[in-house]
Formats: sequence, C-alpha cells, structure tokens
Amino acid sequence: MSERGTDAHQDLPDLPPLVRRALDAARAHGFGHSCRPEQGRLISALAAGAAGRIGETGTGCGVGLAWLASGAAPGTRLVSVERDPARAAVAAEVFAGLPQVEVVRADWTELYRRGPFDLLVLDGGGQGKDAGPAADPRRLLGPGGTLVVDDFTPSPGRPPLFRGRPDTARLHWLDHPDLRATELVLAPDLCSVVGTLRP
Ligand SMILES: C[S@@+](CC[C@H](N)C(=O)[O-])C[C@H]1O[C@@H](n2cnc3c(N)ncnc32)[C@H](O)[C@@H]1O
Repeated sequence: MSERGTDAHQDLPDLPPLVRRALDAARAHGFGHSCRPEQGRLISALAAGAAGRIGETGTGCGVGLAWLASGAAPGTRLVSVERDPARAAVAAEVFAGLPQVEVVRADWTELYRRGPFDLLVLDGGGQGKDAGPAADPRRLLGPGGTLVVDDFTPSPGRPPLFRGRPDTARLHWLDHPDLRATELVLAPDLCSVVGTLRP
C-alpha cells in the first residue's frame, strides 16, 4: 500500500480536475494511502483503451478511480468497491453527478457480479498479497481484458524478492496461466504488474 500516495501528488501542476477533487476529499478525510501519481498516470492511459467496463477493488477516497475516469473514453462505465463505509461515502460524493462512475460499499468479491471488465485494477482486495483469495482473471476479465496490480517494490532478478524472500504475490500474477503478464517499473521504489487475458 502506498503510504504517501496522497502526499505524492502535492505540487504536481498538471493533474486532471477530477483527480484534484478526489485528492481534496482524501486530505479532508485524513486518508494518505491513495495510489501514487505514477500509478495514476499508468491506469489513466490504460483506461483510454478500455472502452466498455472498468473495475477497481479498494476505492479509498477515489484518487485512482478519478485517474481512471479522467482517462476513460466517453461511454465507458466504471465501478469501484470499497469495504470501509466512511471512505465509500467520501468517494461517492467525489463522483456525484458522474453517472458513468459507481462506488459500491462492499467486499471486493462483489465485482464478480459486475463484470466482465475490459480493465481491472486491484488496489484493495483480490491482489493475493494477504490471506484473502486472489482475483480470478478468467472470471473477471472480458476477451483481451487487462489486469493491473499496484504497489510492488522493484526487484531486478528472478525470482523477484520482497524483504529478502521470493515475492509470491508477484509471482502469482507473473506466472498466472490465464495471463500474459509483465511488471512495469514506475519509479525506483514502485512497480506494477500488468497482464492481459490469454485467449
Ligand atoms: C491502497 S487503498 C486504495 C487506494 C485507492 N485505490 C486510490 O488510488 O486512492 C486500499 C483500500 O482498499 C480497501 N480494501 C481493503 N480490503 C478490501 C476488500 N476486501 N474489499 C474492498 N475494499 C477493500 C481499504 O479499505 C482501502 O481503502
């Protein structure tokens, strides 16, 4: 989890207005764990090519979702799930008046009823980083759909290491039989895994 993702946007000059709105809400709510701007720009670019339906787990206060919505083409539907009621309410307020964006207060597994997705961002549940189950890309993605898992630490060798041990969460996605996946280094201390559903 990006501990300073909200603060990392500070003083950046060219943020989309909706991202600014979400950042203001996150700050007002005291929420520091928004995605980093490097990740925001990545998912915004991917959203531009995901005409149809975009999903996200872990809305937080809506910063990542705002990056997605800012990049998405007109007509694209976006749904994000957040289990914390207060954060879900804050995020819903950020996107009030944008009928193409839906914030759902629920466990991330609610997305199984909302897909399939052309782009799916895992940022709170379903990442396979903790004890919970990893999301199933075959059930959640449409044909050629793309999955993004945020917030890994760059590790040059194979297997990738985290805290001196093989990073099993990252390997889960990189070696997933249903995905063609790779990692993108976004900053010296940040990388994401991006995978496309195999036919
Ligand atoms: C890293 S923050 C998300 C940041 C957000 N995507 C952004 O870019 O601003 C992770 C969020 O996931 C939520 N979360 C964690 N586990 C969850 C679950 N099982 N289902 C839904 N939300 C979950 C947390 O409450 C937290 O708000």
